[in-house]
Amino acid sequence: MIIAIDGPAASGKGTLSRRLADHLGLRHLDTGLTYRAVAAALLAKGLPLGDEAIAIEIAQNLDLAQMDKSVLSAHEIGEAASRIAVLGGLREELVNLQRRFAETPPGAVLDGRDIGTVVCPNASVKLFVTASAEARARRRTDEMISKGQDANYASVLDDLKRRDERDSQRTVAPMKQADDAVLLDTTEMDIETAFQAAVDIVSRAK
Ligand code: C5P
Repeated sequence: MIIAIDGPAASGKGTLSRRLADHLGLRHLDTGLTYRAVAAALLAKGLPLGDEAIAIEIAQNLDLAQMDKSVLSAHEIGEAASRIAVLGGLREELVNLQRRFAETPPGAVLDGRDIGTVVCPNASVKLFVTASAEARARRRTDEMISKGQDANYASVLDDLKRRDERDSQRTVAPMKQADDAVLLDTTEMDIETAFQAAVDIVSRAK
């Protein structure tokens, strides 16, 4: 069984995907981390983000088990990830890696921007998780403050809107709800309510 979960940054798709995978006994891959890991390696080497040949080489040697979410969640890495995510050849490499993960038994929950449209178009269940930009910025600001980081709601909101724009306007694999995906708008939901809604959608589709 493969479950595809797409949506914009801070929509709650990550937490939902992890919980769904636990609940269903499936493996979980946050595909954003694969873009972040490549971006972080380029930044660490001081290489330009547009250098696709090197980005592809890094992607070919990526070890999913070694990706450290606590390091890769930094704001600058998310920005850089969204810049390299426009490179078609790099996407092809990462999509192959993501598909291999998805197709390994017993199946998996993958979350990202193009899972239902490109990576796993035959997924058993597809969800597009969204929330208003304001609700997402509020959640992201609260999360940063709870980690003791500096956070300013207005600049978080600006950054999210800019990233959504870049992710949905790019020509290769733009963020988009698949025709057969179920829309889950979490603007007015807490995580528990959103999780129950997702479980209902999955059990209806099974
Ligand atoms: O989800 P996350 O914020 O970690 O993703 C970082 C960036 O990676 C996104 O802004 C997007 O540009 C890119 N990405 C993508 N396709 C995916 C997952 C992430 O283009 N499946």
